[in-house]
This record gives sequence, C-alpha cells and structure tokens, in this order.
Amino acid sequence: MTSLWLDRDTILTGDAFVPEADFDVAVVGAGLTGLAIAALLARSGVRVGILEARTVGAGTTGNTTAKLSLLQGTVLSGLRRQYSQKVVNAYVEANREGQAWLLRHLEERGVPFQRRDAYTFSVTDGGAQRVKSELSACRAAGLDVEETSVTELPFNTRRTIRLADQAQFNPMDVLESLAADFRAHAGVLMEGVRVRNISNVTKDGRADIVTDAGIVHAGRVVLATGIPILDRGLYFAKLKASQSYAAAFRVPGHVTIPSGMYLSAESPGRSLRTYPAGREELLVVGGNGHQVGREPSPRRRLDELLAWARHYFPGAEVTHTWSGEDYQATNLMPFFGKLPRGGGKIFFATGYNKWGMSNAIAAALAISAEILGGQLHWADTIQHRITSPAGAAGAISLNAGVAKALAEGWAKAELAGSGIGAAPPEGAGMVVRQGRRPAAVSTVGGVTCRLSGVCTHLGGILSWNDAEKSWDCPLHGSRFSPTGKVLHGPTTKDLPALE
Ligand SMILES: Cc1cc2nc3c(=O)[nH]c(=O)nc-3n(C[C@H](O)[C@H](O)[C@H](O)COP(=O)(O)OP(=O)(O)OC[C@H]3O[C@@H](n4cnc5c(N)ncnc54)[C@H](O)[C@@H]3O)c2cc1C
Ligand code: FES
Repeated sequence: MTSLWLDRDTILTGDAFVPEADFDVAVVGAGLTGLAIAALLARSGVRVGILEARTVGAGTTGNTTAKLSLLQGTVLSGLRRQYSQKVVNAYVEANREGQAWLLRHLEERGVPFQRRDAYTFSVTDGGAQRVKSELSACRAAGLDVEETSVTELPFNTRRTIRLADQAQFNPMDVLESLAADFRAHAGVLMEGVRVRNISNVTKDGRADIVTDAGIVHAGRVVLATGIPILDRGLYFAKLKASQSYAAAFRVPGHVTIPSGMYLSAESPGRSLRTYPAGREELLVVGGNGHQVGREPSPRRRLDELLAWARHYFPGAEVTHTWSGEDYQATNLMPFFGKLPRGGGKIFFATGYNKWGMSNAIAAALAISAEILGGQLHWADTIQHRITSPAGAAGAISLNAGVAKALAEGWAKAELAGSGIGAAPPEGAGMVVRQGRRPAAVSTVGGVTCRLSGVCTHLGGILSWNDAEKSWDCPLHGSRFSPTGKVLHGPTTKDLPALE
C-alpha cells in the first residue's frame, strides 16, 4: 500500500555515504522528528549528518493523516487523570510552540497548508462523557474550545467540541521543505543507510555509528527512529505500538464532505479531513487501529474502515490506502531527551500517541536547545514529571500483555504443522514448524520466502499482516518485509532466511 503523500515524484536526492565521516551530531531517521532537529541544529552552525534506513518520510510521517491540531481527540483529559495541571499545561505549551514553529516555517517557505477547525465528536453515551471531560480539560489548559451542535458529518453525533483555526497539510511537502532548509545549511542527508548499532558512547571521544554501509562518527547522536533502536532505558517496554489505517477517496460532487478535521472520541477510531489535490478535494478517512501484530487480519480492519466511509459517502472511490505505526507511552506523555546509559551523548524522542505533527517539533525544539546548551521550561516540567500510579499500572498491564503474547506465540508455533515444502497462496503468510524452529513462510509477487519466524529483537513469534504483506511482532512492534528486511524497530536485525 502507498499513501496519498508518498505517491509522488520526489525532488530529493540523498547525499553519498562517506565511511569514517565525522559529524558534530548524527541524526538517525528522516521523519518529522529527525528532519526538524537536523534543520534546527544545522541553522545554528552544527555539522549534522542524517542517516535514514529507507527514504525521507518512509516511516510514520509519510503514512500519517497530518492534522496539526491542539485539540487532540481526548488526549488532554487522559493526561489530566495522571498529572497535575502544571504538567498538562506544559504539554499544551510544548504543542503550541511546536505548531507555531511549523506554521511559521511553512509560511516563510510558501509550503501549502490549510487552516481548518478541529473537532472531537462522539456517537455513544460513553463517548459523550469523554468529550465532556475533554472540554473541561481543554478549558483548564487555556484552549479556547467550544461545544457545538453543528457538524458537517453525515450522521448524528452526541456531543461535539471544536477548536477553531488549526491546520492540515501534506506531510511530504513539509519534510521536503525541512530537508531543503537543512541542506542549505550544509547538512548531509544519507538515505538507504540502516544504523545497526552505536558504540563507544561511554568514552570521552566520538560515538561510532555502525551502519550497513560502514561506520561514521559523531559527538552526539539523536535517535529519531520512532521507537528507539537501542534497548538502553527499556523504552520498548514503556511504549505500546499501534497500527492504524487510512484511505483517500474521490467523492462524487453531489455528496458533501466535511471541510473540518474530525476525530471520534470512541473506539473504533474515526478520523476525517480533506486534501486539495489539484482541482479536486479528496476525503481522507483514518482509524481502526490495533496493537501491532495482535490482529488476526489487519486487512479486515482496513476493509471495515473502507466500508464505513463508503456507507456515509455514497459513491466514494478509493484512490489510496495505507497504514502507519505510532507509539503510545504507558504514562501517555511523549518521551524526549537523553537516553539513559548513553553517556550523555545519545538523545531520543518517541511516544507521540498519534499527535506527532506538533509533538515531533516540540521534541525537536527541546533536544536541539539541550544540545546547544539551553533548556526550555515546558521541556523541563515534562521531563521531570513523576510517573503516576495509573502510568505504573499501564506499564504492568502492557508487559503482562507482552508476556501473554510471547507464551501464546510459542505455544501456537509448537502446535503448528510441519511446513516443509508448503507454499502459501499469493499474498498469504503462515508460521509453520521446521524441525523445532518456527518458520515464517509467505508468498508475495510469486516469490515464496522461508525465514525464521522469531523476531530478532527479543524472540516474539511473528504474525502475518495481510494488509501490508509484512511479518509483525506482537511484542514491541518490530516489522519485517516478506524477504526479512527490517521495516520498523525496535529491532535493527533482519530475519535470517531458512534453508
Ligand atoms: C495512521 C496515522 C495517522 C496519524 N495522524 C496524525 C495526525 O493527524 N496528526 C498528528 O499530529 N499525528 C498523527 N500521527 C502521528 C504522527 O504521524 C507520528 O507521530 C510522526 O509522524 C512520527 O514522526 P517521527 O519522525 O518520530 O517518526 P517516523 O516518521 O517514523 O521517522 C522515523 C524514521 O527513522 C527511520 N529509521 C528507523 N530505524 C532506523 C535505523 N535503524 N537506521 C536508520 N533509520 C531508521 C525510519 O525509516 C523512519 O523514516 C498519525 C500516525 C498514524 C500511524
Ligand atoms: S519487537 Fe521485541 S520481541 Fe519483537
């Protein structure tokens, strides 16, 4: 599947990888977080190299729905249940600064974006209650949110709130603009270079960044890889990886599509926005998320979303479908700053809970300030928050789920039939036994691949994703292509092929 945003001729050509190159700062990952940090540092005269495993935007940023909003579903009421008003205010301030910085950047560079009102709506009693709590939390945090009975949606809603004058854009326009800014300040952007490890971080010297193409060196390293690719700090055990779906539709002229940006307060999630593509306005619908690797048929999730959109927008024709992976911290607050046991040299940012358009920029502002010797007061408040009992309970429950998925995966693999010689039908994958080992066998594009069925991170048994045609790990969300190449971390190791 290719997203509406990534379906374009890129104007970017990466720079050549030079083994043993030396940078002040190496940024791993060219999504919104990595490019924003890199641009901020390069503008200040820092020598920055970006190492991107695939291409700019190939991760979550190219597969988002790209609403830049301070009304974020029911996020603030969730945070308020766990934190003091001071901490919630710091979160809002971080996002306000992130949003303002990005809009200023886009305005200055003539990058298109649209101002739109943002809505959180509900269709059930439970959802209406959540919207009510969100309204109080938003007002307490100083957001000018109002209740409204008017929506442009083609179905009845219970309670709806609105925040005027938010924004939406094509995220690839944004990344290309940040990349141009970065390179105009002597930044080096290397695509197709996967970082496998970072060593030598405890000595006074430079860190060694070990990649497929060779080693480069840097005084500091920023992991802007979504979930961190190093296990120091055990962030994989504090983050829930979820996969959500999106689709773009061409809707007949007589069917009205909403001009605002809408998000439901209940599950299954429903997100709507539009996109001006040339002379037509496409409808973008998203939602139906689930934990990575835990859904028997991701394709069915996508199909449900498409059926929902076609029901409410009759005659809608699908132009693109896609999915993306994002991370929610068990304590609901994004993580950014120094990675523990990284010798003070390694920084990271993650856990945006599907609100990365503003949170990534906030993290970039905070990390670049720290590297340049400054500190932002909202960043300080967020970083020094105390984990609430609810956050601790969330971590316990997440890891109980991980232990269960691990045990169930291995039990199922034990019981699986012997797969010697079996080739699944086109587009299918299955875990079979090869001797005592679980094997992941799939057929895609007429090619049958037989790989280890055990995740190279910490041994989860993989499950087949029939929407994306990938092998997904139900433990911490690593994903692999049918040929075993890493698509998403935390792992950095490909799946070995079996004889
Ligand atoms: C379906 C969906 C809809 C969303 N909608 C919204 C929305 O409307 N508004 C909003 O604010 N947020 C939204 N989000 C969340 C937002 O898109 C993300 O939080 C944000 O894009 C994350 O950006 P990032 O730069 O941190 O990560 P990414 O964009 O994933 O960038 C990480 C990069 O690191 C690279 N990488 C990984 N490992 C390595 C390695 N070992 N070596 C080198 N490179 C590596 C990857 O290839 C990738 O390019 C949505 C998310 C999803 C999934
Ligand atoms: S992602 Fe951790 S075991 Fe697979």
